[in-house]
Amino acid sequence: RSDAGVARFDEAIARDQRIEPADDMPEGYRRTMVRQIAQHAHSEIIGMQPEGDWITRAPTLRRKAILLAKVQDEAGHGLYLYSAAETLGADRGDLTRRLIEGRQKYSSIFNYPTRSFADVGVIGWLVDGAAICNQVPLCRSSYGPYARAMIRICKEESFHQRQGYELLMTMMRGIPAQREMVQDAVDRWWWPSLMMFGPPDADSPNTAQSMAWKIKRHTNDELRQRFVDMTVPQAEALGVTLPDPDLRWNAERGHHDFGQPDWDELRRVISGDGPMNAQRLRRRREADEDGAWVREAAAAHAAASSPAVSS
Ligand code: ACO
Repeated sequence: RSDAGVARFDEAIARDQRIEPADDMPEGYRRTMVRQIAQHAHSEIIGMQPEGDWITRAPTLRRKAILLAKVQDEAGHGLYLYSAAETLGADRGDLTRRLIEGRQKYSSIFNYPTRSFADVGVIGWLVDGAAICNQVPLCRSSYGPYARAMIRICKEESFHQRQGYELLMTMMRGIPAQREMVQDAVDRWWWPSLMMFGPPDADSPNTAQSMAWKIKRHTNDELRQRFVDMTVPQAEALGVTLPDPDLRWNAERGHHDFGQPDWDELRRVISGDGPMNAQRLRRRREADEDGAWVREAAAAHAAASSPAVSS
């Protein structure tokens, strides 16, 4: 990298301009972007599994159509994000291999089982709600293709969040057993949802540099607080209890105080030892193997129809 290239990059960041694929960028910036975008893409693709498990068991045709559309949106987000990673010179097949071999991460949240149909609603409400909190600021992330991808993804995530909340409202108007299913799902997903934002700031090795490069606009703890403040009134409107005895409004701070998730659990889940890690990766590997003939056929077709080959 030339000195002029370094200066151009630093100036663009200082002026809040976007970094585009052909621009000079430090190797560390490129690596960080590939890491975050790939992890995000993997999360969308693996994230199809927990809810996908309920497509054949949705209670009505309407719920099934909504769920199918939502899971397809997640596939779309994944592909969109792999395209963004490719603008940085990453290879999609290589990223998938790294995921399958456990060399690249995906979100901890998708390593928990979906035990009842209420989980579909709670994933929409809490998990997609947390994703929106995290991703709306990423629409202003410094890397252009990632920031632009986030705009469309956030719009779709908002629809996902609404459908989850509407599903839960419907169940809460139902019989006592349905209300109990909703409360049980909230109890199981609350703490893992808070963990989605990553470790506490003091234990987050990447935050300081990513904030300096304007990749991240807020720290993990800031976004977690924003999520709690946003969710408490929604829980009240729904009529469910959030399973945290320390949760209360703090008028002095103008925010809710809340308890700490089990950070050891997050570490275990991230390192591959969560309740569903093995199954999630096995299924991803099987899907990759089952799809190999499609990729080979597409590559053969592209080679046969390219002018270089036919001339
Ligand atoms: N699940 C899995 N890994 C995590 C999680 C989590 N919830 N939180 C943090 N990590 C990993 C980080 O990737 C990092 O690992 P690495 O350095 O080996 O890559 C390590 O734990 C330390 O964390 P941080 O220093 O805080 O890492 P970072 O600055 O990248 O912040 C965060 C983590 C907030 C998840 C950030 O990467 C981000 O905003 N990513 C984009 C959003 C995203 O990936 N969402 C996916 C789930 S949402 C959905 O798909 C519906």
